[in-house]
Amino acid sequence: MKFGAVVVAAGRGERAGGAPKQFRPLLGRPALLWSLEALLTAGAAEIIVVVASEQVGPAERLIAALDRVSVRPGGATRTDSVRAGLAAIGDVDAVLIHDAARPGLTPAVVSALLAALGVGENAAAPALPVPDALMRVDAGGHALDALARDGVMRVQTPQAFRLNDIRAAYAAAPAGASFADDLAVMRATGARVRLITGDARLMKITYPEDFAVLERLMSANRIVCVGHGVDAHRFGEGDHVTLCGVRIPHDKGLVGHSDADAGWHALVDAILGALAEGDIGAHFPPSDAQWKGADSERFLRHAAQLAAKAGATLQHVDVTLLCERPKIGPHRDAMRERTAAVLGLPLARVSVKATTTERMGFLGREEGLAAQATATLERPA
Ligand code: CTP
Ligand code: MG
Repeated sequence: MKFGAVVVAAGRGERAGGAPKQFRPLLGRPALLWSLEALLTAGAAEIIVVVASEQVGPAERLIAALDRVSVRPGGATRTDSVRAGLAAIGDVDAVLIHDAARPGLTPAVVSALLAALGVGENAAAPALPVPDALMRVDAGGHALDALARDGVMRVQTPQAFRLNDIRAAYAAAPAGASFADDLAVMRATGARVRLITGDARLMKITYPEDFAVLERLMSANRIVCVGHGVDAHRFGEGDHVTLCGVRIPHDKGLVGHSDADAGWHALVDAILGALAEGDIGAHFPPSDAQWKGADSERFLRHAAQLAAKAGATLQHVDVTLLCERPKIGPHRDAMRERTAAVLGLPLARVSVKATTTERMGFLGREEGLAAQATATLERPA
């Protein structure tokens, strides 16, 4: 089922205080980006992020590296913001409407919601039981009567609908009315809503202390894996070498089936290693003619996509080039910039360095050039 998402992020986060909560860092990255990554990994064809009008510019910069994501201005209430998102989304069968204030979304929840629509449900949302007693209270904070908890669930987002249904439900809703969530709008049309098992990590950041709680929950089932990669290529005829995506003039070339970029090949193997996904030769066999002369950027993008599919986030990469010549120093920063751009990492988390082998061995005799790399990934345990 082709699906898109509307992620509402136009609130001020007054109860959480400080800058709007959806843009504040959570586990080292702006909270909004976590939901976008989960939706893209799950296969979203299009995502509309709805933000306050003064946040359109900053939000566009934040999502600049993400394909299939665009930004729209929202409205005074959540309902207005959802309306803006639904008006902007394109040609999809289903739409998930999600609070940016719930960054703990996983691709598994997205799949479960789509599966419910797939078996004919009108709408679906994640929900959890209410373990605490519920009490009505007076203005002075004194308990009044207890509310029945049986048959009560707390409902989370994303909430999933067929696009035409939810558009029709919003069109039928009184203009200016404000709804707690989108299920309420859909239910007003008489539709049945399927509740699937929610996830503690889908808690909504509402108060200042929620950031620390959610960070703990989100990191509980993740582990850090370090992958290692090695590559070497022989020198041959030529007037340049390509290393970490940068063309360097030289009095020799590198012999290889693809562009012989040993730096990026070692890095691809390091990422594959952290994912336990075999090696570059298994993914791009040298026997396959289509990889002849191939730009290694394709291999690196492939490795990064495999990591995203596995729900992994790349934290840091470190490439070491081993050669007497050409001198790497003058090209080091260009190599870091190219690598950072392809992997979508900040420059401070991309290291490229070089060493000679003091004229010893095959590298010292300049028969060829070698590279080693490590990649540090955080991934589900
Ligand atoms: N939201 C929105 N447009 C609004 C109000 C809220 O897009 N006019 C979004 C928020 O950004 C959030 C979600 O709706 O992702 C749920 O709202 P809530 O938790 O109430 O967030 P805020 O309104 O930002 O917080 P507060 O009520 O504490 O100010
Ligand atoms: Mg609010």
